[in-house]
Amino acid sequence: MSPFLLTRTLPEDATEAALRADVLQGLTATRKTLPPKWFYDAHGSELFERITELPEYYPTRAEREILVDRSGEIAAATGARTLIELGSGSSEKTRHLLDALAGLHTYVPVDVSESALTLAGQALVAERAGLNVHALIADFTAALTLPGTPGPRLVAFLGGTIGNLLPGERAAFLASVRALLTPGDALLLGTDLVKDEEVLVAAYDDAAGVTAAFNKNVLSVVNRELGADFRADAFEHVALWDAGHEWIEMRLRSRAAQTVKVPALDLAVDFAAGEELRTEVSAKFRKEGVRAELAAAGLDLAHWWTDAAGRFALSLSVAR
Ligand SMILES: C[S@@+](CC[C@H](N)C(=O)[O-])C[C@H]1O[C@@H](n2cnc3c(N)ncnc32)[C@H](O)[C@@H]1O
Repeated sequence: MSPFLLTRTLPEDATEAALRADVLQGLTATRKTLPPKWFYDAHGSELFERITELPEYYPTRAEREILVDRSGEIAAATGARTLIELGSGSSEKTRHLLDALAGLHTYVPVDVSESALTLAGQALVAERAGLNVHALIADFTAALTLPGTPGPRLVAFLGGTIGNLLPGERAAFLASVRALLTPGDALLLGTDLVKDEEVLVAAYDDAAGVTAAFNKNVLSVVNRELGADFRADAFEHVALWDAGHEWIEMRLRSRAAQTVKVPALDLAVDFAAGEELRTEVSAKFRKEGVRAELAAAGLDLAHWWTDAAGRFALSLSVAR
């Protein structure tokens, strides 16, 4: 079997410290928020995989369609020897890229979910003789230290996950991706596109309630890690389209006035009846906006591919 390495790039207690800081800041703000990265413990990662199979959740199928059609072109254009994938999750769709990248030396999946990295990495090395997998448990919004593997490098950021970053965070993130690359290296970026509100909202509020369970999973994470007493049934899942910002917001709406205790932070948080906690933003994009954001980070758009129905785009940009 080929080697599978799993490296934690942060100290063991860094995750807890980051969670404490985010919960303290987010739950004491005038408009309460929690960042989406805290959805993804082992259960949250499993729920996300179920979301990708829902009839309403088109992004995964649309992006897979593009990867099936274009991975050969991506391989030819980049000649990548190291593929770094940010927020890699199950690495399912990445298999099409791995099949096409004939000269690949090392695949570096990066995720906050240790369970997702372990499952995906072990399966990949068992299946693919000669592929080195060096997984990193890391936060892709922080500075990354990559293994010293050969170039050219291709960074992949799939699933439309870039939409979970707010505009200012996106600019900083793209600049940090550019800093990982040398001129000629490339970024493969998946972006969900602006479309009918009905289609967008359904993708985040499915009939089977899997997205609602995923949304509420963040409360279980805070309960388990910080001893809080959130009751999932005291909150309602909300998904809405913000046409001004062109993003979907997921929120948890308090069904009644209530106080939630977070003992690890010595905190009591009051929720008014109907008050909402924002748990995710998922921005939707247009081609010219993506081109401009990439250009501002020193990345030139070289290819723009969409699925046949025009719902989702994959762009390949090259470091200047
Ligand atoms: C929307 S899912 C997409 C998964 C996969 N790339 C796909 O396309 O199906 C987002 C993934 O990013 C990971 N993630 C979220 N925030 C992260 C962060 N700040 N740093 C590293 N990984 C993160 C999650 O654990 C999850 O696997």
